[in-house]
Amino acid sequence: MKFFVDTADVKDIRELNELGLLDGVTTNPSLILKSGRNIAEVTKEICDIVEGPVSAEVAATEYAEMMKEAAVLSKIADNICIKVPLTLDGLKACRALTSEGRMVNVTLCFSANQALLAAKAGATFISPFIGRLDDMGVDGMELIAEIRHIYDNYGFDTEILAASIRSTEHVKRAAMIGADVATIPPATLKALVKHPLTDKGLEMFLSDWAKTGQKIG
Ligand code: E4P
Repeated sequence: MKFFVDTADVKDIRELNELGLLDGVTTNPSLILKSGRNIAEVTKEICDIVEGPVSAEVAATEYAEMMKEAAVLSKIADNICIKVPLTLDGLKACRALTSEGRMVNVTLCFSANQALLAAKAGATFISPFIGRLDDMGVDGMELIAEIRHIYDNYGFDTEILAASIRSTEHVKRAAMIGADVATIPPATLKALVKHPLTDKGLEMFLSDWAKTGQKIG
């Protein structure tokens, strides 16, 4: 499973990249707002840090405008992945951009049929939003399982990018179902390493080691 980080915070991205844990980054207009940065500047900085796909989202809702914005965003770096919303215009832009050889992430997916359309439009990634479905009392993970089933039925190579992840449990369940990628908020990504028995065990080993009076090397 690939790990993308879901943020436009350059400090977090740099830290996680140095740990060797990052395969890519996703941003969206809300995350750009939160960063307080200019989209072109911050996206360029992110692309210079991370080698993998960096999703940058169009703000237009109409096909021709989306294509103009996609052209601007594409010029930022070679690893830009254009993010388009799951609308008819977004799907049309997806087909046009992937035909030109661009990576496209189709975002705001809340149903298996929407994911089927995105795959038919040649999407590189489909982003089902787990947490936002959970918020409505619907099991978001069930959507990941449905999409996995459909994509495997027909051999679509669109990658399932589990998005709107809110917990480490979400990451585990998405991995068990076979999502290709999870885009994870920085704090949740770092929390994956945590286990109380790891902390307790390490404490005991360090204490016993100190009692040996030895040094390695
Ligand atoms: C995905 O690419 C989106 O940026 C993101 O996962 C949305 O998550 P949220 O529902 O926590 O805003």
